[in-house]
Formats: sequence, C-alpha cells, structure tokens
Amino acid sequence: MTNADFERIVDTSDEWITTRTGIKERRIARDHIQTSDMALEACRAAMEMASCRPDEIDALIVGTVTPDYPLPSTACVVQEKMPLPNAVAFDVVAACAGFINGLAIARSMIEIGSARKVLVAGAEKLSSITNYEDRGTCVLFGDGAGAVVLEASVGDRGVISTFLRSDGSMRKWLWIEAGGTNRPITKDFPFDHTDKILMNGSDIYKVAVREMTRACLKVLDDCGLTADDVALVVPHQANIRIIEAVAKRLHIELDRFYLNIDRYGNTSAASVPLALDEANRAGKIKPGDNILMVAFGGGLIWGSALVTW
Ligand code: COA
Repeated sequence: MTNADFERIVDTSDEWITTRTGIKERRIARDHIQTSDMALEACRAAMEMASCRPDEIDALIVGTVTPDYPLPSTACVVQEKMPLPNAVAFDVVAACAGFINGLAIARSMIEIGSARKVLVAGAEKLSSITNYEDRGTCVLFGDGAGAVVLEASVGDRGVISTFLRSDGSMRKWLWIEAGGTNRPITKDFPFDHTDKILMNGSDIYKVAVREMTRACLKVLDDCGLTADDVALVVPHQANIRIIEAVAKRLHIELDRFYLNIDRYGNTSAASVPLALDEANRAGKIKPGDNILMVAFGGGLIWGSALVTW
C-alpha cells in the first residue's frame, strides 16, 4: 500500500507522510492470511538458514499483538503447522518490543540450560487493528514477520547483553480500548473504532527518543563497549525522525543504522527481525560484528540487545 493509496482514502499527502515518517510503502496481508502464516514462513526461512531441523527446536517464542485467536497463542498455531514436536510454544505481548523481549527470554532459557535451540519470531497483521479513517495512525503501520534461531554455544559470540523496561502509566498513549475484559465487544458494541489502535504520537515520540537512546547506552555500558564498537544498529522502524534523533544522541552516523522503514512502515514486533534478516542477507553483517538492536512500543515498553554475530 503506497502513500498515493492513502491520498485516496484520507486527507493526507505523500509529502506529509514522507517528511514526517520516512514511509513510502507498507505490506498489507490479504484477508485469508493470518499472523501465524507469516510467522510460519519466517520461522521456516530462519531454520533453513540455520540448517536446523524442526525436532531440534526446544522453544518457539512469538512476539505479537495481533494473534490469530485470543486463545491459544499464535506460537501454538505455528507449532502445529510446522510441526515442532519437542518444543514449548508461547507468545510475548510486548508490542513493538516483542521481538527484543522474546530474544531476552530465549537467551535466559539457553543460559540456564533449559533449551539448546530456540526460535524467536516477531509477526504482526497490524492492518487488522488499524483504523483506516484515522490519518494520524493508518499511514504508519504494515504487516510482516521475521524470525531467528538462537543456539547454545561456547565462546564470545551470541546475545551478550539485553535490557528491558516498561512504564504502564503511559499505557493509554498507544492502546486498543475495546475487545478485552475491560470493554468487551458485546452485541451493543457501537463499532466506533475503539477496537482499533489509538495513539498519542507526539508524546510517544519524545519518550521513544529518550528511552531508545538510554537503552542503547545501557547494553553498551554493560558490555564495556562504546558506540564506536558497534558495526550496525538495527532499530525498530517506527519513524525515520525518531531513528535520526537517536543516532545523533548516540553519536553514531546514520549509515551504521539499517533502515527499511520506507518499504514496510511500522510492523511492530516484526520490525527488528525483518530489518536484521534483510541486513544479513544483503551481506551487511560479518562474523564478530557487534549488532545493537533497540525497540520501543505500546505499554509503553522498550528494550535493547547487543549481539556479537
Ligand atoms: N497526513 C496529513 N496530516 C496529518 C497526518 C497525515 N497522515 N497525520 C496527522 N496529521 C496532522 C495532524 O492532524 C496535525 O494537524 P493540526 O496541526 O492541524 O492539528 C499535524 O499533522 C501535526 O500532527 P502531529 O501529531 O504533531 O505530527 P508529528 O510531527 O508529531 O508526526 C507522527 C506525527 C505520528 C508521525 C509522530 O508523532 C510519530 O511518529 N510519533 C511516534 C509514533 C510511534 O512511533 N508510534 C509507535 C511506537 S512503536
């Protein structure tokens, strides 16, 4: 879906969207495609790249806020479709930080010895929770999925440090009011778009810049590294101006950030693994490189991870 497509449905312009967000296009899944279908494809591609068999996977963690069903988890749907006979499968609900949270959980499972190989995916069908009459949000979001395989190893490479934080007092800055126990969708529900994403963009923007910068500095500091040691930053792709502001505060040139927001928009939990996979397949990551991932989303919740490739 291009900016020109949005010009036809809401009062907006390619110029506004491009200069305010950096987004040109987003991918929108067809009606019959579920979040689990996208997650499945991403998991298969990751396992193929890792030369890993389904029976070797001990856990599957899917970051998503757009599950196929309220119950069971999307991860359990993917588990059946794959199938993964020896795994525990569960979702993480951490909005745009879903993948980073999944990565941190997977790292802990491997470090304490309860798993050897873990699939971590981020998958979203945000088009299913987007209000296409709200120009302030609908131009931002897209659908997609990405995944990685983490494996136990000895040595200096791997997920070296992670940092997670949230602040629920700002939960109404980015939320869906109806559809849960607080405001169920009953037969009298007015369908006034309160079952879709509602966002206070400008306040989120400021907190995102501040906390994404802090989260990056925190994992670097924990590892005794500085911004100069980072080969590539893979940020959550929410807004190019947020990424530029974080880059400036970290004193890392923008060309060391992997950017694909122009083609996908904000894909929430899928954003970081999509960008990581593209960067990897494009040969932009070499063994031994320090990769800094950082994300921020509704909760509010944010986090970062330092990976030595
Ligand atoms: N096209 C044209 N005008 C639009 C528009 C659109 N798609 N969306 C909003 N506007 C208008 C607003 O109505 C407002 O008009 P007004 O001044 O007449 O009231 C004006 O543009 C400025 O709105 P504002 O919200 O201040 O713009 P902004 O520069 O803050 O940019 C966002 C808006 C949403 C792009 C920006 O705030 C943002 O990216 N925030 C972070 C959101 C985010 O990342 N959320 C996900 C977290 S993971």
